[in-house]
Amino acid sequence: MENPEILLVYSYAPEIMEVLEARHVVHKLYEADDREAFLSKVGGAVRAIATNGHHGASAALIDALPKLEIISSYGVGYDAVDVGHAAAKGVLVTNTPNVLNDDVANFGIALLLAASRNVVAADRYVREGKWLQGDMPLARAIRDKPVGILGLGRIGKNIAGKLEVFGCDIRYHGRREQPDQPYRYHADLVEMARDCEYLIVICPATAETNGVVDRAVMDALGPTGTLINVARGSIVNEPELVAALAEGRLGAAALDVFADEPRVPDALMAMDNVILQPHLGSATVETRRAMGELVLENLRLHFAGEPLATPVTP
Ligand code: 8YV
Repeated sequence: MENPEILLVYSYAPEIMEVLEARHVVHKLYEADDREAFLSKVGGAVRAIATNGHHGASAALIDALPKLEIISSYGVGYDAVDVGHAAAKGVLVTNTPNVLNDDVANFGIALLLAASRNVVAADRYVREGKWLQGDMPLARAIRDKPVGILGLGRIGKNIAGKLEVFGCDIRYHGRREQPDQPYRYHADLVEMARDCEYLIVICPATAETNGVVDRAVMDALGPTGTLINVARGSIVNEPELVAALAEGRLGAAALDVFADEPRVPDALMAMDNVILQPHLGSATVETRRAMGELVLENLRLHFAGEPLATPVTP
């Protein structure tokens, strides 16, 4: 039997591409000069899409593939996949949760530590020769400091458990309280932000969370507060973030995700109280390998007629 034909929206690591090309007839959308012509030519036979959290799969792309059965997405966030449209067309969707929990959590904590101790600014301070003129101002400890986690899901819980070691005063906000968790629940995000010095954004990007970190939240976090985002740029109102930082209504930010990646507002580039990272949360060899293997496994299970490893339930 012919190997199932699949459409690659994203170029995976070589070891993953090798397996995809051995198991499938692979069509590389990202190499097409004319996407429409390419899809018209190959789309009729494509049974699966292999994509990622950034490129996703739009309703238009799904509709261009009449034999599409499954969308296997690399990444835990599937907000760029039109899951509702896929479900309406009977197309299965999978993502790659859990294998990246540690690294994304660790990166969120790394950003909190870097922001609290001014690590990036201190590096510049030394390189610019300013230490020769004197010491940097003192930073602040994080022990006993209130840290709010927006989204106590798998990664949020991983962050919270690790922050306990640092002695932080951990709180969380989400759609509902989780009585089995030992941390204080805040039903209102603005109220939690008002009580916290650090706010870590790690919730899924959904219609409900789009822009949920707005001016009111930033003003509540306040001039001594720090916003950390390792989730999705869309969850934070980015123009309001720029204004809050520029006007001193928000103290600092450490950002791994942005509204229009890889483009970052020039205003943020110019700010010394902002740490900017190019979406590195899961970007380790080990975790990206595990994510790629999960993309492959979901495709293998589907075409073997077996239950999927990590299906997305819309
Ligand atoms: C990846 C991510 O950057 O898991 C996610 O949702 O954002 C990251 O792991 C991306 O999805 C894969 O390119």
